[in-house]
Amino acid sequence: MNKKLVRSLLLGLGLTGSVMIAWRFVSRLKPLPCPAWMSWLLENPFTRGVMDAPLLVQRAGIKPGMRVLDAGCGAGRVTVEAAEKVGETGEVVALDIQPAMLEKARARSKQAGLDNVRFMLSALGEGMLPENRFDRALLVTVLGEIPDRKAGLEEIAASLKPGGLLSITEMIPDPHYQPIRAVRQLAHSVGLIETRVFGNKMVYTVNFRKPVQRKL
Ligand SMILES: C[S@@+](CC[C@H](N)C(=O)[O-])C[C@H]1O[C@@H](n2cnc3c(N)ncnc32)[C@H](O)[C@@H]1O
Repeated sequence: MNKKLVRSLLLGLGLTGSVMIAWRFVSRLKPLPCPAWMSWLLENPFTRGVMDAPLLVQRAGIKPGMRVLDAGCGAGRVTVEAAEKVGETGEVVALDIQPAMLEKARARSKQAGLDNVRFMLSALGEGMLPENRFDRALLVTVLGEIPDRKAGLEEIAASLKPGGLLSITEMIPDPHYQPIRAVRQLAHSVGLIETRVFGNKMVYTVNFRKPVQRKL
């Protein structure tokens, strides 16, 4: 590789790293959700094999006929995979705080010929989700963007059927990355029970089950 190329690559990496660090810092002061035009960030060669939608759907144990919540669905990359998996007898609710993200998810679902996806414009923590409705909930690189994380997780936990499963995925270059111990603490504080972990500290999925008889 010639020197000029190496220098450009290092510069690019340095700039990206600085933007991510600045973003993480600013988001502590003010919610800064991933803008719709940056939704491609989760679909690049570096995330292939560790963050792919089929892998996340498999880790969440999504099966035909299930009702699934894709909380913070973004541009719908996981929504479409989940909707294909649950099939005609199942349903996916794709929820996001940003209309522009939902528009992308809607277009993607339409292109895939799906009619089992419902779209919901809402902020997690506002209490708009129905209770005891979903078999599975997905929260993929979203948790750190929610200003009141406990209220957000409480709402998701309440929306799960007893015995339902919440699958949380986090990835380290994400400026809103949440370490697994913080995720565990939050999930336990809303009454969810850890069942399984996949991956490593940098990119992981952790599953939690809603107890059949919840202790209030
Ligand atoms: C990094 S993107 C991840 C999108 C998608 N889960 C994926 O893996 O492709 C985070 C998404 O969470 C959404 N989000 C952030 N805060 C939210 C909130 N309080 N309620 C609902 N969605 C939220 C953002 O609008 C954004 O679409």
